[in-house]
Amino acid sequence: MKLTLSVIKADIGSIGGHIAPSRALLEKVRALVAERAKGLLLDHYISYTGDDIAILMTHARGTGSAEVHRLAWDAFLAGTAVAREQGLYGAGQDLLKDAFAGNVTGMGPAVAEMTIEERPNEPFLFFAADKTDPGAYNLPLYLAFADPMTTPGLILSPKMAKGFRFVVMDVNCTEGDRVIELSAPEELYDLAALLRDPERYVVESVWSRATGEQAAAVATSRLHNIAGKYTGKDDPVMLVRTQMNFPATGEILAPYATAHFVAGGMRGSHNMPLMPVALDTGTSYFDGPPLVSCAAFAVHGGRLTEALDCFAHPFWDSVRDRAAEKGMEMRRQGFFGAAMLPMGELEYTGITEKLKSLDGRFHMRKEAERAAA
Ligand code: 13P
Ligand code: 13P
Ligand code: MG
Ligand code: MG
Repeated sequence: MKLTLSVIKADIGSIGGHIAPSRALLEKVRALVAERAKGLLLDHYISYTGDDIAILMTHARGTGSAEVHRLAWDAFLAGTAVAREQGLYGAGQDLLKDAFAGNVTGMGPAVAEMTIEERPNEPFLFFAADKTDPGAYNLPLYLAFADPMTTPGLILSPKMAKGFRFVVMDVNCTEGDRVIELSAPEELYDLAALLRDPERYVVESVWSRATGEQAAAVATSRLHNIAGKYTGKDDPVMLVRTQMNFPATGEILAPYATAHFVAGGMRGSHNMPLMPVALDTGTSYFDGPPLVSCAAFAVHGGRLTEALDCFAHPFWDSVRDRAAEKGMEMRRQGFFGAAMLPMGELEYTGITEKLKSLDGRFHMRKEAERAAA
């Protein structure tokens, strides 16, 4: 059967700064989705990562369905009302537009969707990251789908031998979707040249070259580009199908053991390691570290199994310890150099204004002054 997997997530308010949503807020979102799901969704699952709430939905209405998007938007609106009642911080933070216009793309919430021909057994992974941006998945996707050092399936499995096609978006372009398609392994160096700049070039989707099936879908929205100023981090969600013609689940998860440095953390303005965490984990140290959760599912006839919590496994404890070490090590140098994002990425206008005013105080030194200096 043709099945659509849609995940729509938003940050609509949090207890204690940007830590985690309140129970009442989550319950409101859950209640509204449950009430409106009948006749619209086949199944759904709701979780939080940091201060973001994600609604995963299965249905037969295709990607970009106005009804499905409206359901998520309305759930986030209802949740925002609770956030306001409770005095939560950042109530309605990611709802950047006033009126729903048929699709939540470009309105603040992050969206990752794909329509698939459901396999007789259909394992897939749902990732959610907080305190970072969509480029955070560039490295793990590159390693999992294009590097045999990470994914032995690329040399062991004949189904994967043709490689994968990556669709990469230039997220700095605000006029529309500026995308390029690159095929691994032939265009590996071209792919690497783009993905090394995760603030500008973001993997949007990955496809099997053997069968044409979609393997991964990533949310690519940059809130800064929608709102024109800093309103919070973009905190991306992602769906990845696994096994058979795709990498095994363990091959998709393996790259997260690196706890690679990503943009995010405090005020969305730093470089911090990405820590794999259990589902429904809040944020802490330095408004971070950036975190990523992963729920594994099987889906059959659109019905989801219970979620398995991939990063709750004891293996990831030592990765978390290392991520904490890396994060603290970076923090030792405060705002200097690599610890803070480069000027072009800083999402606070305060520093731009400060530099503008300082610029006027620079002057060119005259000959006589130079001799005296
Ligand atoms: P399956 O035989 O269940 O596809 O598992 C392959 C495997 O070994 C995954 O690492
Ligand atoms: P969120 O985007 O997760 O709300 O984080 C905002 C922030 O800047 C935390 O310091
Ligand atoms: Mg927030
Ligand atoms: Mg958030």
